[in-house]
Amino acid sequence: MELIFATNNRHKAEEIQRLIPRSIRVLTLEDVGLTEELPEDQDTLEGNASQKSRYVYHRLYRSCFADDTGLEIDALGGKPGVFSARYAGDGKDPEANMDKVLKKLKDEDNRRARFRTVISLILDEKEFFFEGVVEGHILREKRGDQGFGYDPIFLPEGSSLTFAQMPMNMKNRISHRSRAIKKLANYLNQYNNPS
Ligand code: IMP
Repeated sequence: MELIFATNNRHKAEEIQRLIPRSIRVLTLEDVGLTEELPEDQDTLEGNASQKSRYVYHRLYRSCFADDTGLEIDALGGKPGVFSARYAGDGKDPEANMDKVLKKLKDEDNRRARFRTVISLILDEKEFFFEGVVEGHILREKRGDQGFGYDPIFLPEGSSLTFAQMPMNMKNRISHRSRAIKKLANYLNQYNNPS
């Protein structure tokens, strides 16, 4: 069976392929020749993930899934959330995005935040959602140079290292994305091997 992942990020596709049965082959948009940019203009992570998976489904009528991730900061009413990539402008500049967060939280003591990933899967013409969350805090300064995005300012709960100070395999074990992917993978494993 083939399952299309609405992404052009091969690294993300490989991460998922490692967790699901080999009899389910994960294809990227490039693999299936979908080159246009997918619409992603909803105001929730669920809405965006769903919009992308439905778009691909209605173009190809094949099983597919899409994800969307955001950093939700309590003191900012859940922002940047769906706007995480472009928080400081269309340049999608991670340094500028982090600087904007740090500035907005300058005099704020409540630094609770979470990364949340939502996956929308369309299988047998039905839609299913999977969510992965990692709770944590926003630091007052950047720490570490691994990872991407907001990793240097995010301290996951129970850790003394930011995401940007962790080796990739350590981050991957606990991250929002891997938690959502594991739920998707469990579902697909059961789907593939009903008992
Ligand atoms: P996407 O939905 O995976 O493209 O993520 C949207 C945006 O959220 C990214 O451009 C990053 O700014 C941020 N983001 C997503 N995942 C992570 C992460 O694991 N670490 C840090 N930032 C992230």
